[in-house]
Amino acid sequence: MTYGTLYGIGVGPGDPELITLKAVNILQRVSVVFAASSTKNTYSLAKNIVSAHLKEGVPVRLLGFPMTRDKDVLKRAWKENADRVLRVIGKEKDAAFVTLGDPMTYSTFGYLMHTIRETAPEIPIEIVPGITSYQAGAAAARMPLAEAEESFTVISGAMGAQQLEKAINCSDRVVMLKVYRHYKEILDTLNLLAKGKRAVLVSRCGLSGQEIAYDLGHRPDKVPHYLSLLIIGKKDREEG
Ligand SMILES: C[S@@+](CC[C@H](N)C(=O)[O-])C[C@H]1O[C@@H](n2cnc3c(N)ncnc32)[C@H](O)[C@@H]1O
Repeated sequence: MTYGTLYGIGVGPGDPELITLKAVNILQRVSVVFAASSTKNTYSLAKNIVSAHLKEGVPVRLLGFPMTRDKDVLKRAWKENADRVLRVIGKEKDAAFVTLGDPMTYSTFGYLMHTIRETAPEIPIEIVPGITSYQAGAAAARMPLAEAEESFTVISGAMGAQQLEKAINCSDRVVMLKVYRHYKEILDTLNLLAKGKRAVLVSRCGLSGQEIAYDLGHRPDKVPHYLSLLIIGKKDREEG
């Protein structure tokens, strides 16, 4: 039996020009495009970013991703999503799954890929990397992430600030994604830990309403947009 190929495509963090030529070339020849959305609405930023690059008439199908930590609910949703993708691939048609930033970095594509691997390991899967949110954020804020022998660590703030201390102690810079839900706790922890450091908040990078806050002390600690990240570096070194 022959199959189509599933392409996991990173579309960059928001600016439609930050997508690779390879991604655009593949998007122009696939039969179906899939994108993740919350099960509560039909919005998909990844879908909006690629819309200008698709051939006319190519269907874009949203795969519902429930906003829950219940593993059984998530597993069931991803099995249903994987089956929808497999129905296309099984007809020898190529399909793309588009995802914000890079598919290998905190992306729903990972869940889809693992589920497809479990269900149908013979399906060909190719991945096109994308510019991550933090690469675009570092460029927008003019903050190098690492130079010479330096290191940087990327962590998630989705569960709060508990990973911050370890990350700050073991690397020169820290990037924290998903900061919005526990923003106040993260700020309080930063104030305790990050003496001599500088934290910059980048929100909606490359999108309308982009915000770059170099001085968090002067920014009211209101919850930032969901699309927000922090870059924590050295006080005396960073641009601004
Ligand atoms: C589920 S993760 C997706 C990460 C993505 N795959 C990447 O490569 O950057 C969502 C988080 O990425 C960050 N993010 C994505 N796009 C962003 C943007 N345009 N501006 C700022 N942060 C962004 C935010 O921290 C957000 O909470």
